[in-house]
Order: sequence, then C-alpha cells, then structure tokens
Amino acid sequence: SKLSAFVSVMLLCVCLGVSDAAMNITAVLGHSVTFRCPSNHSRPVERLYIQRVIKDKEDMYINGFTNGREMPGKGYQSRTKVNAMDYSMEMRNISVGDEGSYICVFVFVDKAYKPEISEIILKVTAEYSVPTITPDCSEHRRGVSGTGMSCHLSCSAVGGYPQSTVRWAGLNPSLTNVFYNWSLAHNDSKTWTINQTIMYNCDQPANVSCAVGGAVSHTITICKLTYTFVYVCLLQPQLFLRNYIVWWKNTVFINIITLYLLCFIL
Ligand SMILES: *[C@@H]1O[C@H](CO)[C@@H](O)[C@H](O)[C@H]1NC(C)=O
Ligand SMILES: *[C@@H]1O[C@H](CO)[C@@H](O)[C@H](O)[C@H]1NC(C)=O
Ligand SMILES: *[C@@H]1O[C@H](CO)[C@@H](O)[C@H](O)[C@H]1NC(C)=O
Ligand SMILES: *[C@@H]1O[C@H](CO)[C@@H](O)[C@H](O)[C@H]1NC(C)=O
Ligand SMILES: *[C@@H]1O[C@H](CO)[C@@H](O)[C@H](O)[C@H]1NC(C)=O
Ligand SMILES: *[C@@H]1O[C@H](CO)[C@@H](O)[C@H](O)[C@H]1NC(C)=O
Ligand SMILES: *[C@@H]1O[C@H](CO)[C@@H](O)[C@H](O)[C@H]1NC(C)=O
Repeated sequence: SKLSAFVSVMLLCVCLGVSDAAMNITAVLGHSVTFRCPSNHSRPVERLYIQRVIKDKEDMYINGFTNGREMPGKGYQSRTKVNAMDYSMEMRNISVGDEGSYICVFVFVDKAYKPEISEIILKVTAEYSVPTITPDCSEHRRGVSGTGMSCHLSCSAVGGYPQSTVRWAGLNPSLTNVFYNWSLAHNDSKTWTINQTIMYNCDQPANVSCAVGGAVSHTITICKLTYTFVYVCLLQPQLFLRNYIVWWKNTVFINIITLYLLCFIL
C-alpha cells in the first residue's frame, strides 16, 4: 500500500539519523500515556508518523496523520489517538510490552526541509501489592543470660514492575541474614512476584515492617514474649496463658507443651 511504501522510505531516513537527545516518559501499567512529539518549528507539517523502534527489526508504525487525517496502524486503532493540533498521541491500557523506544517523524509541506526525527523512550511502572509480612519465631536459649528468639521473617508482594527488592525496617542489620530470596516474572503480564525470607535473632521486642518498591507492609512486633516471660510465667500464670494465646495467634508458633515445661523449669 501507499502507506507502507512511505513508511519504508521513512525507515531510510531513520538510518540517516536526524535524532536529538531522547525524551523519557513514564506510564503506569493499565493506564494511559501521552506521547508529545517535540517540535520547535513553526513550519506546516504534512505528515507525522509515530513508530516503535524494535532492535534488529523493522520499525513498527503505530499511528500518525497525513494532512490532518488520522491514520492508525494495524493493531493500534483501538488503543491510540493522535492529536494533529499539538502533535501528540494518547496510548491507552499500557502493558509492560509497550515499554521501549519510539520515534516521531515530521514531514513538512515544504520539501526543502528534511524530515525531522526525534526519539521518545517509554518506561512502564506498576505498584506492588501491600507486602505480606509473616513471622515464624522460636525461643532459643543463649548461654546463661537467658533466652532469645530466632525468627524467620517472610515478606512478599505481587504485581509490580520493574523488578524490585525487599527492604526491612526496624531490624538491626548485623543480626539479619537472608535465608531465601525469590522473584518471578509473570508470563503474560510480565509483572513481578517478590518473596524474601530472612533470619533474625533477637532478645528484645522489635517493631518490624518491610517494603517492596513503594508499597509498605503493616508493622508487626516480634520477640514480645521474652520481656514478660519470666515475670508473667512465675507470678501470673493466667495472664501468661492469655498473653500466650494472643501471642500465639498473632505471631509465632511454639509447642504449648514446651512452654509449660519451660515455665516449670523456671
Ligand atoms: C533518559 O533516561 C536515560 C536513562 O534511562 C538517561 O541516560 C537520559 O539522560 C534521560 N534523558 C532525559 C532527557 O532525561
Ligand atoms: C530546535 O530544534 C533544532 C533541531 O531540531 C535545534 O538545533 C534547536 O536548538 C532547537 N531550538 C530550540 C529553541 O529548542
Ligand atoms: C488491557 O490490556 C490487557 C492486555 O495487555 C487486556 O487483557 C485487557 O483486556 C485490556 N483492557 C482493556 C480495557 O482494553
Ligand atoms: C535478592 O534477589 C534480587 C533479585 O534477584 C537481587 O537483586 C537482590 O540483590 C537479592 N538480595 C539478596 C540479599 O541476596
Ligand atoms: C512460562 O513460560 C515458560 C517459557 O516460555 C514456560 O516454560 C512455562 O511453562 C510458562 N509458565 C506458565 C505458568 O505458564
Ligand atoms: C514466600 O516464601 C516463604 C518461605 O519459603 C513461603 O512460605 C511463602 O509461601 C512464600 N510466599 C509466596 C507468596 O510465594
Ligand atoms: C512498638 O510499637 C508499639 C505500638 O506502636 C510501641 O508501644 C512500642 O514501644 C514499640 N516498640 C519498640 C521496640 O519500638
């Protein structure tokens, strides 16, 4: 067709390279983004082509206009709309696959001017789900000084992009060891699931939260028992039991019989 012939000619122009510094834009997964083709000229524009640049492949025509009339490319009709007045294009329902490099090609009415090409780089982001924080603590005796706790803390979040890492707050880094570190990109959406488990030894309560990307978990308190253990265990067995049940529900799993035994030993 005439269009594809023209696009091929434009590809030649790209090879000649008239491009300035690339412009970066960011879109949120599933939302819309507007590509604004930079133009500081006041010359009448006959045509505007917006193309996707794919490494080692022919550029893919997305949308554009000729003499003010929109000419959407195959597969992009439903998702894009050009504005011939301000040389912009809106793209809806952005997916991770849209990330990459695009070019705008201006063809002027006055053929004395060469076509002008500029590059726009699209980055896609998606917020992670609120991370789930899961403690799994057990009591362990440490020397004569008494008991401490050893905790496995897991933090996981889904649906984010790009890949991110887990950050912990409220922990002493020198008592922290990464035990398990896992991340996986979803096949279709290309979004990430992140899961990390750390080992943490503590002998006093700590308020802990984790974050993945910009999403922050709620705060949990770990190692609560050691504070009250001796006192409550000996002096107020009922309170101990009640606290213990609450604590068991909220935070950790320890065999109740073990605790009873410990209580008697103390
Ligand atoms: C666009 O981002 C790249 C890195 O991704 C950076 O090198 C470049 O300076 C940015 N360009 C502008 C105009 O901000
Ligand atoms: C306009 O664009 C040309 C190249 O396209 C550039 O050399 C010039 O500096 C630009 N002028 C302004 C005011 O940005
Ligand atoms: C948005 O794109 C996804 C695939 O990337 C598709 O499954 C979904 O149906 C689209 N949503 C709309 C409203 O078009
Ligand atoms: C966990 O895995 C991610 C992704 O592979 C990596 O970037 C990060 O450095 C790892 N963290 C640790 C502490 O190993
Ligand atoms: C994801 O893709 C890989 C390779 O394309 C395939 O081996 C795997 O079975 C896929 N996983 C799922 C859950 O579809
Ligand atoms: C994260 O890893 C922990 C430890 O292996 C596991 O128990 C948990 O189910 C994992 N969570 C997710 C969401 O994969
Ligand atoms: C943890 O948070 C609770 C409630 O916000 C607070 O009372 C307690 O002092 C905090 N503990 C530590 C060790 O920061």
